[in-house]
Amino acid sequence: MLSLRSVTKRYGALTALDGVSLDIARGEFFGLLGPNGAGKSTLMSLAAGLRTPDAGALTLDGIVISPADPASRIPMGLVPQSIALFQDLSAEQNLRVFGELYGLHGAELRTRIDESLAAVGLAERRKDPVKNFSGGMQRRLNLITALLHRPKLLLCDEPTVGVDPQSRNAIFDYLEKCNREGLTIIYSTHYMEEATRLCSRIGIIDHGKIHALGTLDELLTRLPFEEEIVFPVSPASDALAAQLRNNGELATLDGRHRFRPRPDFKLSAFYAQAEALGLPPRNFTAARPSLEAVFLHLTGRTLRE
Ligand SMILES: Nc1ncnc2c1ncn2[C@@H]1O[C@H](COP(=O)(O)OP(=O)(O)O)[C@@H](O)[C@H]1O
Ligand SMILES: [Mg+2]
Repeated sequence: MLSLRSVTKRYGALTALDGVSLDIARGEFFGLLGPNGAGKSTLMSLAAGLRTPDAGALTLDGIVISPADPASRIPMGLVPQSIALFQDLSAEQNLRVFGELYGLHGAELRTRIDESLAAVGLAERRKDPVKNFSGGMQRRLNLITALLHRPKLLLCDEPTVGVDPQSRNAIFDYLEKCNREGLTIIYSTHYMEEATRLCSRIGIIDHGKIHALGTLDELLTRLPFEEEIVFPVSPASDALAAQLRNNGELATLDGRHRFRPRPDFKLSAFYAQAEALGLPPRNFTAARPSLEAVFLHLTGRTLRE
């Protein structure tokens, strides 16, 4: 559906997107995971046709996306990273303004406004001015505004930053429902938990490049280890950590050792070594590695940097 071919975007001397090629198929819930400054918003604004690339091309169902061609952009909805609402207007008035800009009116517009306010739990607050809304409520309204004209592709740029858990869940549930009903979604985030929960395919982006692309399982196979054992730092566990260095990767972060055994290393051997040092099993958590580990492995950085 959406296709990027060697897309480059520069701001002066800075290359924000560096030859990105990407294909998004109909029905996907695609995640764009990367830290601040990775190039996520730049990619979103190019896809939405708000900017023109310096090199390469973007197409939607074969039609070149261009700021000069509204018809190439109307099939999309953009939820921008910064809230784009009229603060002095009510929720309902905001939806009416945006709906009319898309050519909706009358009973059809009224029905869509009612349905979308109800879908994200804002029906009772419809008459309140947006400036009285919490950050999370504004985010929910920002989202339904982008969907009012029933686009076939939704570009969602970090829609949960600074959002309370209740609003976040309302946003997740609504996006998942829309995706089940056929909406194609591109969702950018720097939270690996969100990409893990929501996205059927994930692209890891940093410094303007896509470093890896795949399902969660596919991305995890990029790691040279299959599990991660985490245990607190202590004199006895430091001795264990020292013994383990030859059996895999060892990192120490936030008062915890994180041991990533090589695939041929037996966990029974690990527990035997721990027992010999008098460390009880309850000290250890063995878990599947996360996308954070994949990101660190591929880029040498953490998502929080
Ligand atoms: N309008 C702009 N002018 C100059 N530099 C920009 C502009 N927008 C973004 N950048 C820079 O481009 C890089 C990518 O930014 P952005 O696409 O916003 O990343 P992200 O959304 O992943 O945080 C960053 O280094 C950012 O500072
Ligand atoms: Mg951004």
